[in-house]
Amino acid sequence: MKPVKKVIQFTDWDAALIEDATFEIAERHLEMEANVLRQARTQNYDSPYAFLNLPYDDALGQSVSRVAQATLALEPSMLIVIGIGGSNLGTKAVHDALNGIFYNELNATLKVYFADTTDPDMLTALVRIMETQLKQDRAVILNIVSKSGTTTETVANAALLLDLLKKYKKDSYHKYVVATTDENSKLWQVAQQEKFAALAIPANVGGRYSVMSAVGLFPLAMLGIDIKQLHEGARDITDSCLELSVEENPAARSATTIFGQYGKNIFIHNTFLFASELESLGKWYRQLVGESLGKEKNKAGRVVHVGITPTVAIGSTDLHSLAQLYLGGPYDTFTTFVTYASFATDITIPPAPELKSLDTNTQGLSLTHIMDAIARGVKVAYRNELRPFIAIELPEPSAYALGQFMQWKMIETVYLAYLLDLNPFDQPNVELYKRETRKILNHG
Ligand code: PA5
Repeated sequence: MKPVKKVIQFTDWDAALIEDATFEIAERHLEMEANVLRQARTQNYDSPYAFLNLPYDDALGQSVSRVAQATLALEPSMLIVIGIGGSNLGTKAVHDALNGIFYNELNATLKVYFADTTDPDMLTALVRIMETQLKQDRAVILNIVSKSGTTTETVANAALLLDLLKKYKKDSYHKYVVATTDENSKLWQVAQQEKFAALAIPANVGGRYSVMSAVGLFPLAMLGIDIKQLHEGARDITDSCLELSVEENPAARSATTIFGQYGKNIFIHNTFLFASELESLGKWYRQLVGESLGKEKNKAGRVVHVGITPTVAIGSTDLHSLAQLYLGGPYDTFTTFVTYASFATDITIPPAPELKSLDTNTQGLSLTHIMDAIARGVKVAYRNELRPFIAIELPEPSAYALGQFMQWKMIETVYLAYLLDLNPFDQPNVELYKRETRKILNHG
């Protein structure tokens, strides 16, 4: 018998406090966009919605697995993912969620590090760690990930770490580098010249939509994540996210819900995740929304200055930091709660006689039970205070669940962009600071 697939559950739609009329209007609009997405599903990587088709690409999964196997055959002790923004956030999200934030301490064989920004102290420490490995004649893999191939931080960090690699692997350094980039980028050319392994990012797949491409798949496969399950989860939710009825379509429904908040001048969307190891997933979504929906101009080029401010909170940690604001402050925030139906492990609180006088009724209870009680208590308080929210329950920490969640969120973002009349795939204003930085770097 085939195992029953564990799907993510969407609940508490009524707590979003959105009128039926909003859904009726959205339904008429989103039907058109859902049809465009359905069409895109038949067009491989030829449409701007190319990301939709990544999870269906078996050849992609196979070629990534081949490169990962060949790289693992070098028996590396360290993998450094050099990339920033859409080029590393998805990988870190899945890795932290499934391998855990203490993975490096607990996993003796292959440790992973993310070199994103050019913080000198962080890079100095990373260089020291890398050099320790190289001195012991261990293999260190550099995965340079950049769609454009020219991002300042990524190029600087790649140059620094490559220099160190060459010092210890003078004639064979090329074996330890994998470049993930667009086939038309200069980085691709460098990879060809230097004989680095190269993995292509389809031209129509932008950074923040690329987690299901080689960008996410290669490092995740190296780290033991079941990338087939990640893709399967994404595929399985895509069908419902292309349904024409908003009621049946979780991405259209959540997009409409967020859009409805926007109509009520609620411009902050807080993703409140009740699992410490989901913080990076929240940050991945934050970037997806920030860059896709924060726009100066609408599709027609009219100045609109539209945006939804994505924030991330961790339960229960941030209840001791922000709950006062969330439950007492301005009515300016919509919340999506994310919880697990079950965690990968559980622990029962032992009786501790010396703490008896502090008893908070937790002795003998499991940590899952306590976490669940807190999350439920928070949702009741939100309802009582008319703080709008919806809730998502992930069945468990699994690649299949993460695949569903991430694909749902990417499609939700596309629908939301449609409702807000924005292009979800460009980021023209990011150029404003990049241009100034380039000028400063060029002229000292
Ligand atoms: O989502 C995006 O497009 C961006 O966040 C990019 O991923 C980020 O700027 C890094 O760009 P690149 O992959 O070209 O180095």
